[in-house]
Amino acid sequence: MQYELKCIGVLTSGGDAPGMNAAVRAVTRAAIYNGIKVKAIYRGYKGLITGEIKEFQTQDVSNIIQQGGTILKSARCSEFKTKEGRALAYETIQREGIDALVVIGGDGTFTGARAFAQEFNMPIIGIPGTIDNDLWGTDSTVGYDTALNTIMECIDKIRDTATSHERLFFVEVMGRDAGFLALNSAIASGSEAAIIPEKETSVAQLDELISNGFRKSKNSSIVIVAEGGGGAQAMADRIHQQYPDYDIRVSILGHLQRGGSPTAYDRILASRMGVAAIEALLDEQRSIMIGVVNDEIVHVPFSKAIKDDKQVNLEKVNVLQILSI
Ligand code: F6P
Repeated sequence: MQYELKCIGVLTSGGDAPGMNAAVRAVTRAAIYNGIKVKAIYRGYKGLITGEIKEFQTQDVSNIIQQGGTILKSARCSEFKTKEGRALAYETIQREGIDALVVIGGDGTFTGARAFAQEFNMPIIGIPGTIDNDLWGTDSTVGYDTALNTIMECIDKIRDTATSHERLFFVEVMGRDAGFLALNSAIASGSEAAIIPEKETSVAQLDELISNGFRKSKNSSIVIVAEGGGGAQAMADRIHQQYPDYDIRVSILGHLQRGGSPTAYDRILASRMGVAAIEALLDEQRSIMIGVVNDEIVHVPFSKAIKDDKQVNLEKVNVLQILSI
């Protein structure tokens, strides 16, 4: 081994995601199990710069597997995007005697990790924690399944009122530039359509919807709009102009999609990934994200996880279309 692995640092960064706590627990316990000290870093990279750090024992992660959010807090840190900020973070690393890092977050987190690892020859392993599921090389990210189920439950409720009032709803869901949450929640909730950034332009998708006709035999319609797919309000305004008789409503689900207790799937995924992260460090791996493909753990270089485009399965668009007649 090129370095001695006596102490690791763990942090959560970027948008929080259900299951991050399960990942922190797994990283902490797997490290201690292997005789490695754990330093918990608060508020993501910000805490690395300011030195908000506490040594964790196994009991510090008791009773958190079921909690949403992150006990370590999270932040989007602009200072860490600068060389100066990263140099300050490295001073903390040296002062605290941290030999390697496990970072839990999304593409912004891994972009920062990659730069930091290159500049300071720092061993870093990533665990994908984001509701967006937009990281290449893993079938699922921690938090995605929970958010998907939360959205599905919300749409089920919206369906009740939409049916009662015979309304057309545009429901906007998160996902940044990706349509995984939108497309899959649309299928799971029996929605009539999804407007996603991966297909043609949102205007073209809307035109297609209009030409297919919204209502037909139905007494309610729900269209899911990915936040990166044009905005539900804009869609609704356009339809209202064309069909002034339609009774239209818009619902933007917002941050409730990020909260809540993680599903069993996310807890298990986070637990496996946490253990795999420590095993990867013991195996002298660095600058990789832990992924899962066909239920097997894989190692994905940060460069690929961030840069390669993860595609939504467009066959699902077909499924949605067929089933919404
Ligand atoms: O990346 C997770 C996510 O929830 C995205 O879906 C969304 O675009 C973004 O974060 C919202 O970020 P914030 O909470 O900083 O407004």
